[in-house]
Amino acid sequence: MSPGTALLVGGSSEIGFAVLLQLLGATPRRVILAGRPSGELWWNADKLRDAGYDVSTTQYDGGLGVEEIEGMLDRACADAPLELAIVAVGSLSSETFAEGLAVNGVGVSLLLRALVQRTPAQLVLLSSAAAVRPRLSIAAYSLGKQLADSTAVLLARQAAETGVRVLVVRPGFVATRMTADLPVPPLATSAERVARRVAAALERDQTVVWVPRRMGLAVRVLSVMPRRLLPAAWR
Ligand SMILES: NC(=O)c1ccc[n+]([C@@H]2O[C@H](COP(=O)([O-])OP(=O)(O)OC[C@H]3O[C@@H](n4cnc5c(N)ncnc54)[C@H](OP(=O)(O)O)[C@@H]3O)[C@@H](O)[C@H]2O)c1
Repeated sequence: MSPGTALLVGGSSEIGFAVLLQLLGATPRRVILAGRPSGELWWNADKLRDAGYDVSTTQYDGGLGVEEIEGMLDRACADAPLELAIVAVGSLSSETFAEGLAVNGVGVSLLLRALVQRTPAQLVLLSSAAAVRPRLSIAAYSLGKQLADSTAVLLARQAAETGVRVLVVRPGFVATRMTADLPVPPLATSAERVARRVAAALERDQTVVWVPRRMGLAVRVLSVMPRRLLPAAWR
């Protein structure tokens, strides 16, 4: 019997795609990429098809409400049960504070709750170190990530009732198109390293994984340092 459907929401995401590739396993397998139409989304879909997966795409926008999310998931999961869901939606460049909160926080939280109701075996959220230590320079992103991260942590605690294992991934800086214009800080990592850490964390049945491992310690240290001593971007 072939494994159930794998869904990547944020189907164009560089980190999300690296994690998906790491976790997909052998063909044949049904894979759904959900996202806004873009060249990156089609390119990812073609790459998976070339590798032998049965791929379809569906539209997801960060502004969707509960009913629209349910409709998207109904269509996506109509043919086979959902086994793996990866949520990689995130934006540092929202035009307004409200949009940043909606895309990174409210939308993702609603999506996570809807996904758990479909009882995939595994749900992976790409959260961020900024969820634990919000930064002024990326306030809407950080606050949105806090909401999404907390939602996932609560859903992980309910795993015994829901049967859904939830992994919250907290990377620091990852070199992708999202960060292409930013200076590279210490502890920067790559999408492939995030994917390998995710696979190892799933094997150990962890609920939270920091990438790199030292990022968790760095965040704890930064949290107790006087902010005035830190560079503006880290406050
Ligand atoms: N790169 C980092 O340093 C870093 C660090 C920590 C956490 N993360 C998180 O890791 C995840 C993946 O990021 P990435 O580095 O792979 O960046 P990415 O390639 O830019 O991926 C971001 C994804 O979010 C989607 N997205 C953004 N705004 C959206 C909206 N309004 N509606 C629907 N989809 C939207 C993008 O779709 P479009 O192509 O349609 O824009 C894309 O699929 C994100 O959740 C990010 O917050 C990244």
